[in-house]
Order: sequence, then structure tokens, then C-alpha cells
Amino acid sequence: MHNPYDDPAVAALYDTFNPWAPCDDFYLDLVMDAPAALDAGCGTGLLLRTARAHGHTGHLVGLDPADAMLDIARSHTRDVHWTRGDLATHTWNGGFDLVTMTGHAFQELLTDTTTVQALTAMRTALNPGGLIAFETRNITARAWERWTPDHPWTGTLPDGRTVTDTHDARPITPQGLVTFTSTTTDADGHEILSTVSTLRFLATDHLDTLLAAAGLTVAERHGTWDRTPLTPASPEVITLARPA
Ligand SMILES: C[S@@+](CC[C@H](N)C(=O)[O-])C[C@H]1O[C@@H](n2cnc3c(N)ncnc32)[C@H](O)[C@@H]1O
Repeated sequence: MHNPYDDPAVAALYDTFNPWAPCDDFYLDLVMDAPAALDAGCGTGLLLRTARAHGHTGHLVGLDPADAMLDIARSHTRDVHWTRGDLATHTWNGGFDLVTMTGHAFQELLTDTTTVQALTAMRTALNPGGLIAFETRNITARAWERWTPDHPWTGTLPDGRTVTDTHDARPITPQGLVTFTSTTTDADGHEILSTVSTLRFLATDHLDTLLAAAGLTVAERHGTWDRTPLTPASPEVITLARPA
């Protein structure tokens, strides 16, 4: 499956459009409490490099299949173990008190089979008493319907230039897949980059079936980053899970 994050041009723009946010505060608290943490789909590594900068002295591993993203992580610090790889195809034998999958990376798992493989991998990476934490956008809030050219995102590059990102999403498929084009333009409206991505939206009861198939049980479930309960209107389905 094509991974758009393998493209250095995509990786170079990632932090501009994904700056520190309340989701990162949520996960940072969990990482700071965990002696050893694995961030699967770590991307440019913002979560773990911030944990290190905040004084985390334990074992921090960031895993991602996209070298272009890891190159950015490495350019910030070598004081985190950045590893290239796919969560589901690594062999794990404990070692971590926390496994995270943040920034909606979980939605890049496009089938039941890959999702159960990934969740199983997260479970097998845990030490006894460990926790996994991830979020997926709430399917009932239908975020993709607002991924249209009339809802642009604007960001500022490190050199001060302004860039704009617009999405153009196709309708959701019966399998819950949403494919969208993401187009980045400069201040003059010239196209810098255009990518096509697919994400999966899962009904929460289906997610819970997949968690159970992976030997996991829900420990906490929230609908927003300030831990409000999940409702049909909640933007996120935030899950903390433990081995069943
Ligand atoms: C939207 S980015 C999120 C990055 C980071 N977690 C954040 O919050 O900024 C999704 C990342 O997941 C990675 N990814 C996709 N499939 C993966 C898999 N099977 N295992 C691990 N990482 C994966 C991509 O390469 C990409 O860097």
C-alpha cells in the first residue's frame, strides 16, 4: 500500500499543518508516567522528543515505516530510538509500559486483518500492567464531509512563508474508507504538493470487536481530549486498552 509519508516533500510540511495540540498534551501525560514507551506511527516524532525535552529518562522508541518522517525526527534529536518499520510486521516480546498510536495513524489500518494484526502487535509489546492508547475519528461525526475545498487549513513554514492545504474527500465506501486529495499551495496560489490518501472510519462497536479479537479490553473511552464521555457528536473515539 502506498504511504504518502514516504515522500520527503510531505514530511517537510507535516509539522506545519500538525503543530502541538490538546491531543499531544493527553498523550504526553501518559508517556511521562510510563518508564518505557513505544509510539507506533511516530511520524516526525513530536510526542517522544517533547517527552525527552520534558525530562523523561526512560526507554523511548518511535516506530514508523516512512524514512522521510523519521529523518525529520532524527534531525531534532538522536536521544530517542527511532526505528523504521510497520507495527504489525515487527515481532514484539514486551518491553513497554505504554504503546501509543497518535495523530489518527490508526485510521491508516484499512482492513480488519491489518487492524487486528496491529492491535495484537501493540498488546505483545506490553509489559505486564501496560496500556495501549490511540484514537480514531468518530464515524458518526462524519468529519470527511467537511474535508472540502471551502474548509482550507493555513500554516506558516519555519521560514515565515504561508501555505494552505485543502482537501477534497470522496464519499465513504461501505467498508468505511474515505479517499481524499490534499493539495498544498503557496501564498500566490501555486500548487506545491498534491497527495491522495485513504483513511478508514470504524463504528465503535466494530472497533471493540477488533480489540477483543486482539486480546484487548477497553480500560477508558473518551470523546474529546479533556476526557468527556463519547457521544455520537464527539469528534474522537479515544481508547485506552489493556490485555483482556
Ligand atoms: C498522520 S501521521 C501521524 C504521525 C504522528 N503520530 C503524529 O501524531 O504527528 C501517520 C503516521 O503513521 C505511519 N504509519 C502508517 N501505517 C503504519 C503502520 N502500519 N505502522 C506504523 N506506522 C504507520 C505513517 O508513516 C505516518 O508517519
